[in-house]
Amino acid sequence: MGEGLLFFINFKAYAESTSANALKILRGIERESIPTERIVIVLNPLDSLMETKITKFIQSAEPLDPGPFTGHVPIGILKEYGYSGVMLNHSEHRIEREKIGMSVAMATRMGLRTIVCAADLKEIEGIRDFNPDFIAYEPPELIGGDVSVSTAKPQIIEAAVELLKGTSSKLVVGAGIKSRDDVRISRTLGAQGVLVASGVVKSPNPIRVIAEMMEEVV
Ligand code: G3P
Repeated sequence: MGEGLLFFINFKAYAESTSANALKILRGIERESIPTERIVIVLNPLDSLMETKITKFIQSAEPLDPGPFTGHVPIGILKEYGYSGVMLNHSEHRIEREKIGMSVAMATRMGLRTIVCAADLKEIEGIRDFNPDFIAYEPPELIGGDVSVSTAKPQIIEAAVELLKGTSSKLVVGAGIKSRDDVRISRTLGAQGVLVASGVVKSPNPIRVIAEMMEEVV
């Protein structure tokens, strides 16, 4: 995944970024001369079998070994699908604190990276104890909207950077990120990654938007 800013793209469950459309975006990125080692695609579990050289995370999974679990996605089988990591506790898929801790521990044991989402500083502080690889600060009210976290919450981002100083967790910021300016501001404020969904996948030309934003991923 390399050093420097990371660019997480959450495909969520949008029609534009699941099934054949997910594959179309992935192949589009692979065709362009975009530095894919800085990109992490966060896939819907239904698209688990999609093969790509781009780093894949799953949008959620549970701290379970392979076994008799119906309708669950065990962390214990993720490696079979080529996943490098798992996202946990997204605002659209909240889980209890105890389960976050168990999931991070199990994923880490299995050699998977973890990105845990947090809605505010208090939650970042609580999650910090679990030492995930990434903590994603996403104010829920800005998700899917036109105002970006980087323009609306610069002080919180700076405070989050302080909270994570001296830990092994990197700060990622997301919500409303739509332009290369948003990426640049996030980086300047001290974020080590950005997490984007609608700004990319709902745009008429996702590949062009990714290429533009990636110019600020340095
Ligand atoms: O996980 C990323 C996400 O919640 C941000 O969504 O649509 O505001 O980029 P969006």
